[in-house]
Amino acid sequence: MKHLGSASLLAISATFRTVVADVDWTTAYSKATTALGKLTNQEKIGIVTGTGWEKGPCVGNTSPVAKIGLPSLCLQDGPLGVRYAQNVSAFPAGIMAGSTWDVDLIRERGVAMGEEAKGLGIHVLLGPVSGPLGKNPRGGRNWEGFSNDPYLAGIAMAETIKGMQSAGVQANAKHYIGNEQEKFRGSATANIPDRVNHELYLWPFADAVKAGVASVMCSYNRVNGTYVCEHEGALEGVLKRELGFRGWVVSDWGAQHTTNGSAFAGLDMAMPGDGFGNNKYLWGESLATAVSSGEIPQSRLDDMVTRILASYYLVGQDKEYPSVQGWSSWNGGKGGPNVQGDHKKVARAIARDGIVLLKNEGNILPLKKPKSLAIVGSDAIVNPSGPNACVDRGCNIGTLAMGWGSGTAEFPYLVGPLDAIQAQAKLDNTTIVSSITDTPAEGATAAAAADTAIVFINSHAGEGYIVVEGSDGDRLTLSPAHNGNDLVRSVASSNPNTIVVIHSVGPLILEPILSFPSVKAIVWAGLPGQESGNGLADILYGKTSPSGKLPYTIARRDEDYGGDVKGGNGDDEYSEGLYVDYRYFDKRGIKPRFEFGFGLSYTTFTYSGLEITPSTLSPSIGLSSDLYDTIVTVTTAVTNNGTVAGAEAAQFYVSLPSSAPESPVRQLRGFKKVMLGVGESKTVKFDLRRKDLSYWDVVAQQWVMAKGEYTVWVGASSRDLRVSGVLRG
Ligand code: BGC
Repeated sequence: MKHLGSASLLAISATFRTVVADVDWTTAYSKATTALGKLTNQEKIGIVTGTGWEKGPCVGNTSPVAKIGLPSLCLQDGPLGVRYAQNVSAFPAGIMAGSTWDVDLIRERGVAMGEEAKGLGIHVLLGPVSGPLGKNPRGGRNWEGFSNDPYLAGIAMAETIKGMQSAGVQANAKHYIGNEQEKFRGSATANIPDRVNHELYLWPFADAVKAGVASVMCSYNRVNGTYVCEHEGALEGVLKRELGFRGWVVSDWGAQHTTNGSAFAGLDMAMPGDGFGNNKYLWGESLATAVSSGEIPQSRLDDMVTRILASYYLVGQDKEYPSVQGWSSWNGGKGGPNVQGDHKKVARAIARDGIVLLKNEGNILPLKKPKSLAIVGSDAIVNPSGPNACVDRGCNIGTLAMGWGSGTAEFPYLVGPLDAIQAQAKLDNTTIVSSITDTPAEGATAAAAADTAIVFINSHAGEGYIVVEGSDGDRLTLSPAHNGNDLVRSVASSNPNTIVVIHSVGPLILEPILSFPSVKAIVWAGLPGQESGNGLADILYGKTSPSGKLPYTIARRDEDYGGDVKGGNGDDEYSEGLYVDYRYFDKRGIKPRFEFGFGLSYTTFTYSGLEITPSTLSPSIGLSSDLYDTIVTVTTAVTNNGTVAGAEAAQFYVSLPSSAPESPVRQLRGFKKVMLGVGESKTVKFDLRRKDLSYWDVVAQQWVMAKGEYTVWVGASSRDLRVSGVLRG
């Protein structure tokens, strides 16, 4: 099987045109070329080499060049808001944004993050994430990204990037590529077959490039034996030539290994510059020497600088951009301006609309002014030492609202679930009985004293440089933390109306919990960020009908998943191939507990009619049209036939014709979220791009449309398909 690195020129010319259409790279490049002409090599080296760890206010800093008006570029984490700063928003994590299936909210979150970054003088906000994609349910950083489905992740990447860059900050798509686990991330190799790469792992990065992303971060791991930041096929070949990426590639912090190898491979900026404070720079003087001796062509250095400058101009940072003033990552982020604006609105909307209602027997939810309510579990309250008590959120104490690591932000405040419930309880005259420990006996006592009990449990994960409760990043288990199953058991044994609320970085095995007959409802509350309690209360009390859907599959057993974090030395052959998450369950005929795309509402929806236009494709379409051109539209009507207003995320799946090489049973290739009043009906439309109907042909090195019948499906989840039709290609 062909592997990453075998890009063809055909694919290059076909995709390049589309990439430049949406954003004005041409003007940006012409400004960059003019500026480049004024620079000495020494100045150029200062632009491509980080100043060194903790040398400058941001996690990454470059040297300024006054004569072209270029400041020291500030690179700062991360994917859910600005890290190491005060008075910023701590937005819901990527996985929570993904579970809204709402492109408008995802875009707004991007705009809000971009505005905050700009307000603090940050030039490059290090996100969004689609590597890891999340093929291994225990992968420590899966929650930083949006979904393990490449289509959903790709749309979310593009919307986030467009949002961020419209606000003036450069986005950074990371971590490219194959960084699917934390354990051994600095040495393991991801041996990704070429088709698998194109159809899964590369897919969201391709969407990021198409959206005009300014920068991409190469990951710590190797692919096919070579470190990604040293891999010419991955960087120059696939990313720059095949996808037509015109921005710059930055190393993950310390992921560069050689002076010349990384330069030839296509790295454009080395971060943090030195080896985390050891003052040893692989570029800097060494790069200057390599260029002056002719070992590295001048043109490669010029290309690095041009890419960095062009991206700077692309988003307009040469025009009255704020500078980093008054704050630094290294003093607790104090002293900067308050940049939160009204962003709590979008934070709350996502904390609410990302909630997935998994079970709701006898319509126990929404709560109807209960007389008494027991609230149980340490996850119901904010860490008593404060929401930011643990550096980089490296602990699981109190309610879980984000994972840990570099992809975190300081909470400006954190609304705990109990606080928000208490506020409503006051209005409803509900007596609250609480037990905010995880001790089963105490939980049982509290639960016995109320009509209804809500028990809170969670599951944590994060980045590998911090160890939390024995986990060095990747999850140790797919069972809840702190013996959550025992806590639920004891609450359920003393209260027949038990509601379980779960904050989690990823899927959990829910069989024990579902086996307790008293568990009437399960509310999957994800990683909601600062507005946690408010978003949850909106759903619990029915102010809004739940509309989130799972961005991954919840299995019945650990071993039902195709992929898992690798032991040994962490090397991964990607032997599950294309069969990740629901693709694996479908192929093997495994029954999931809650399938990908599943989520209940307080109302119900019907689907009717399916129109495919055109229903037969002209034979030339597979070659003549652009990859991102819409070639087919599919419409269907969705009706709210229930009793309250609600939003439905309608999902479009396609099965490729039998003439295609073996492919997943069906794949998500469209989704639309629509708000519907009682009795209201709306037509939803899915625009299918040529890419959405193609497979990657490893011999031709092209996206190819198979001849024959495509079965298309629209439904409420990957297994609740309501209408279908046939497209002839
Ligand atoms: C992480 C990146 C992050 C960088 C800078 C690395 O450890 O993998 O995601 O952007 O640090 O903080």
